[in-house]
Amino acid sequence: MGKVRKAIIPAAGMGTRFLPATKAMPKEMLPIVDRPTIEYVVQEAIESGIEDIIIVTGKGKRAIEDHFDTNFELEENLIKKGKFDLLEKINKSANVEIHYIRQKEAKGLGHAVWCARKFIGHEPFAVLLGDDIVQGEQPCLKQLMQQYEETESSIIGVQRVGDDETQRYGIIDPMANEGRRYQVRHFVEKPERGTAPSNLAIMGRYVLTPEIFDFLGKHEKGAGGEIQLTDAIQKLNELQHVFAYEFEGKRYDVGEKLGFLKTTVEFALNNEEIGEDVLEMLKELIFKNEEVRDN
Ligand code: UTP
Repeated sequence: MGKVRKAIIPAAGMGTRFLPATKAMPKEMLPIVDRPTIEYVVQEAIESGIEDIIIVTGKGKRAIEDHFDTNFELEENLIKKGKFDLLEKINKSANVEIHYIRQKEAKGLGHAVWCARKFIGHEPFAVLLGDDIVQGEQPCLKQLMQQYEETESSIIGVQRVGDDETQRYGIIDPMANEGRRYQVRHFVEKPERGTAPSNLAIMGRYVLTPEIFDFLGKHEKGAGGEIQLTDAIQKLNELQHVFAYEFEGKRYDVGEKLGFLKTTVEFALNNEEIGEDVLEMLKELIFKNEEVRDN
């Protein structure tokens, strides 16, 4: 069916878990140390070989567009001051075409993906969520794209979660597996506590065939009254093979407060410029906390 060349990054959610920070700014623009979350995701797409990206935006559209646009004034200023390292940093995503489309109302992830259907046309494509950062030796999306080349079927990225977390995710009901690749009986969005068919959770990276749009176009609401991508994937699975792939790499959940903070601390500790100071700061904080607790 051809190569995966295009990717959709949905970034039009309400971001209610980060209010009030997300009242006027998309949560995908919240920075992990000094880079907005969405930039890590765009980088993963580029490193995986994606040529065209469409970002689905809602409120705060300008902030995302401006971030990936050229800022001549800023560039001139950095050149004048000889700050070439910063110039390189702000031009990291220059080698890819980024397009934008607006989701007028946040009706759910499935609806956000459907909004980009005309841009995709009739070819396989990738979806990367801006709430998940994955770091590993090989980009997560690249692993899925390689699986697509082997199977010519939709591939959904999954990783294991704890028993107490399954109700927060789309979960697969796996059948036979070949290494890390699973055939799937069912995809279930946010199963009720204790009813999950496995611990393998969908983690915000997908390669999909365009037939998914036939199901998304029905606008059927699912869990939480939203149009769910997982429900359309289940319908697609009844029509053609949809595989799950347990990808390698560490996944950071930056879509909720604690996950966001953990990611920030870990990335700050690994940062060349501030890592050592952050470690000292944390040691001091822990030491002070222990003192208070012991008194
Ligand atoms: P989430 O459910 O995690 O994002 O959607 P949210 O709705 O913004 O978050 P909360 O629950 O209110 O805090 C996963 C991804 O799908 C996008 C989001 O921007 C996020 O990247 N999304 C979600 C859309 O683009 N449109 C939607 O209607 C819903």
